Amino acid sequence: MQKQTVRDLEAAGKVVLVRCDFNVPLEAGSITDDRRITESLPTLRLLIEQGARVILASHLGRPKGVTPEFSLAPVAARLSELLGKNIPLAPDCVGDEVKAMVAAMGDGDVLLLENVRFHPEEEANDPAFAAQLASLADAYVNDAFGTAHRAHASTEGVAHHLPAYAGLLIEKEIEFLGRAVNNPKRPFVAILGGAKIKDKIPVITNLLTKVDKLIIGGGMAYTFLKAQGHEIGKSLLDESNLDFCKELLAQHGDKIALPIDVVIATELTETAATQSVPATHIPSDHMGADIGPDSVDAFTQIIMSAGTVIWNGPMGVFELAPFEAGTIGVAEALAASQAITIVGGGDSAAAVEQFGLADKMTHVSTGGGASLEFLEGKKLPGIEALLDA
Ligand code: 3PG
Repeated sequence: MQKQTVRDLEAAGKVVLVRCDFNVPLEAGSITDDRRITESLPTLRLLIEQGARVILASHLGRPKGVTPEFSLAPVAARLSELLGKNIPLAPDCVGDEVKAMVAAMGDGDVLLLENVRFHPEEEANDPAFAAQLASLADAYVNDAFGTAHRAHASTEGVAHHLPAYAGLLIEKEIEFLGRAVNNPKRPFVAILGGAKIKDKIPVITNLLTKVDKLIIGGGMAYTFLKAQGHEIGKSLLDESNLDFCKELLAQHGDKIALPIDVVIATELTETAATQSVPATHIPSDHMGADIGPDSVDAFTQIIMSAGTVIWNGPMGVFELAPFEAGTIGVAEALAASQAITIVGGGDSAAAVEQFGLADKMTHVSTGGGASLEFLEGKKLPGIEALLDA
């Protein structure tokens, strides 16, 4: 990575503000997936061992003002368990009370600040607010890969006020994602899924210049099938991007692999009656909601002969049992393959976690939007702002 990392920081006795992405899923106040917390531990342990005074900042959700259900209290509790010491939660992220709590810290202590998004100045990247956050510390470490695509006060603004370093999670993410995209072991295969073509146009366009094969599944595959002239019934159609799909197929048809069969139904429910039909013959009163078994076989063959595979986006509505088999099939193929396997964050990361296959992947990114923007070839402002190596 072209940036200085926390390893370049002499942290002993210093107050270090660490921006993490603790935006974890919660159900009735309980954390349902703590991977973003566990992935932040190497940086935190390194700083604690060095005797730094560690202040942690994060957002949670998209609150409008101070909203108790978006408090980071569950994160403080989980962090305390994982680090084996009490991690207090400050009542706010700036202000006199927080300053007093920081002043009372000893070497090796950790303090979690309350949700930075309780202040609208955070997302506005307000310079005065960034300066207030910075005034708490001697140095800044950004380890929030999942939020690195946001130029907010705690991810970008603050880096203009303090010596700013990358954390070990950001370093790891960039190493895996960067190597996969820029220096892949070939054949290089990308698998893209998810519902909306509009969201994936930049990543499709960027990856087509780099990959040997692009597999397209999920809801967006149906607009491609329509572009090939097939009847897609009630399946998702993005009419406005039909011409884009036609053009891509004309230019790169040899690189693009589409489903050859799909699982259809008349409703998206847990009890929906389903059948698999050729992707070229979807009845007019049905919709496709998953790739079929022949597609899983065909995609598995491509995955098995790959050197590197990047996967972003599920193959169907995997949250519902009748439509999960395609996403499970692709996840199992990745798990079984000898290739370097990188799973983009968001839904596909949630899927491999849900299927118990995350450990079988080379790397599962903690970034949803951030990993997508990285794969689009965009610069991430939270990383750009850090000190050059
Ligand atoms: C994410 O979950 O993708 C990150 O935490 C960023 O959250 P945001 O989309 O609300 O900015």
